[in-house]
Amino acid sequence: MVSSDISTASPRKLEGKVAIITGGASGIGESTARLFVHHGAKVLIADVQDKLGQSLAMDLGPDLGPPEIVSFVHCNVTSDSDLENAVDTAVSRYGQLDIMYNNAGIGGNLDTTILNSDNADFKKVLEINLFGSFLGAKHAARVMIPARKGCILFTGSVAASISGDLSYAYKASKHAILGLNNNLTVELGKYGIRVNTISPYGVATPMVTSGMQMDKKAAEEFMSAAGNLRGAILEPEDVARAALYLASDDAKYVSGLNLIVDGGHNHNHPLFGATDSLAN
Ligand SMILES: NC(=O)c1ccc[n+]([C@@H]2O[C@H](COP(=O)([O-])OP(=O)(O)OC[C@H]3O[C@@H](n4cnc5c(N)ncnc54)[C@H](O)[C@@H]3O)[C@@H](O)[C@H]2O)c1
Repeated sequence: MVSSDISTASPRKLEGKVAIITGGASGIGESTARLFVHHGAKVLIADVQDKLGQSLAMDLGPDLGPPEIVSFVHCNVTSDSDLENAVDTAVSRYGQLDIMYNNAGIGGNLDTTILNSDNADFKKVLEINLFGSFLGAKHAARVMIPARKGCILFTGSVAASISGDLSYAYKASKHAILGLNNNLTVELGKYGIRVNTISPYGVATPMVTSGMQMDKKAAEEFMSAAGNLRGAILEPEDVARAALYLASDDAKYVSGLNLIVDGGHNHNHPLFGATDSLAN
């Protein structure tokens, strides 16, 4: 049983826990790996970018040295055997799996029209963002069900909650992640496993800067200006903190949540144009 005594809450919120983070070599996944390790978790970074993932693991584990607290495993999330291997590696190396963060994803082509949507791109985005998340959840459940505990997280997107100006593939993939989230919440609740999704607004990670062909600063300024919450920039660390909350015992009774980290953007549906112009 998890303690409810707030006075005994550990400042290291993930002490004793073991996490896998897919897409953990870059962007939101990298920030989450850093924060999880800082909070006492043992972390397995699972990604296709081997060099980046290995150097992050070295960077995060300088005292003890990888693989004692953090290590890398090559994992293409579209491969059943790669995810099987990642989960089995976490269990054999660290003894258990408490947190499976299905975060790996791609933006795909940016075209937002149905007629120009590329079929191959649609399949690729769905395969990585959706099928990869499904496989991650499936292999995590394989070891979490017998343990009768665990936490499965997904990175969704505000794209699931707004429409228009989005590629069909990306919108569909992130919308469908909420379907996975909700069904898993019900099925796995009986085993004490919590399932939640973090859905960010735009963050200037490599996925976004390369997709928009902007540098980090320009992308941040663009998204901040288009966002709802003025004067703030959404950074990968903000998303990592949402993941930390959901992964920790602070969220011990939170399951089935879509935690939208968007400064209220999804509520902003101005009638007949921009809210600002109506206010003037
Ligand atoms: N950046 C944003 O604005 C934003 C907003 C909402 C949601 N997201 C989601 O956040 C997640 C992380 O993206 P990010 O913004 O940090 O981008 P990123 O490009 O910095 O990181 C994505 C990581 O996923 C990895 N990856 C890609 N395909 C993979 C595969 N087949 N198998 C394993 N790993 C793979 C990449 O190598 C990379 O390290 C994605 O699911 C993305 O859709 C991003």
